[in-house]
Amino acid sequence: MNLIDQQQPYRNAPFEGEHIQTKPLAAAMGGEVLDIQIADLTEKSFLEIEKALHHHKMIFFRKQSLSLADQETFTLRFGEFGTDAYTKGMTGHPDVQPVIKEASTKSKMIFGGGWHTDSPFLAQPPSVSILHGVEIPPYGGDTIWYNSVLAYESLSPTMRSILSPLRVHMSAQNVIGSMKALAQDSPSEPTMSDMELELDVQSMLDGSYHPLIRKHPVSGEVSLYCDAVYAVGLQGMTDRESRPLLEFLVAHLTQEMFSCRLRWEPHTVAVWDNRICLHRAFNDYDGYRREMHRTTVKGETPIAAF
Ligand code: SIN
Repeated sequence: MNLIDQQQPYRNAPFEGEHIQTKPLAAAMGGEVLDIQIADLTEKSFLEIEKALHHHKMIFFRKQSLSLADQETFTLRFGEFGTDAYTKGMTGHPDVQPVIKEASTKSKMIFGGGWHTDSPFLAQPPSVSILHGVEIPPYGGDTIWYNSVLAYESLSPTMRSILSPLRVHMSAQNVIGSMKALAQDSPSEPTMSDMELELDVQSMLDGSYHPLIRKHPVSGEVSLYCDAVYAVGLQGMTDRESRPLLEFLVAHLTQEMFSCRLRWEPHTVAVWDNRICLHRAFNDYDGYRREMHRTTVKGETPIAAF
């Protein structure tokens, strides 16, 4: 069966609520929430935003006037703050993580540069992530997302049944290994944009085992929970057995037909549901500064779909 030729369900239609409307970004996923300021959301609008998020997987808002405190308030509407392994947060705002690459920084590795889901090495990975674009290069520095529900649904029934009992080992061993190698090669350069590790490294290495096929706790949608950065093995399999399967799953997940790509502008805010999509940032803007403010919401222990 040729996956590229398969007919995909087309369902990323606009979300038409009573209080908010969206405009789809791509056929597979993503939607712009129109004409609303996050800082002024009513409870009714927020409830529709949550529905729009489950529908589009990633939503974004242009032209936002959002202080650090507003971003914290918005994040807390989804749930308590998630744990971040990579920074101490901003002065006076420990739960808002600066994601900054200076114009002078030339690093082979940037934060979020590989296809990943956020912090899946945690026992309870973040459910939702929020990224506020503060300073944006004139071009480049886009973020791309992949819909892991569509990716799951386009697998053959036989492959789905092979995958459904499996558990994936999510560990930060690749990130930590690359950071160490870069630090040895060029000790004067920051290793990953301008970030350092803040969480206990051993617990990031040990990581967690999660269902490879998981069920969304609210929408019930079933998705493939795997990525190129943190998925390092499959429980009960040797490396030689699991590696080709994981490589296939990442190649499958990261096909363009499952994706949407956001071109940032200053004051754009993107919100995505980590349980049902992957994302990556591009390291293609050397010479320009990019500053983003990121918050995450603590998620639940991932539930197996079957
Ligand atoms: C992230 O992976 O959370 C950061 C994405 C980006 O900087 O575009």
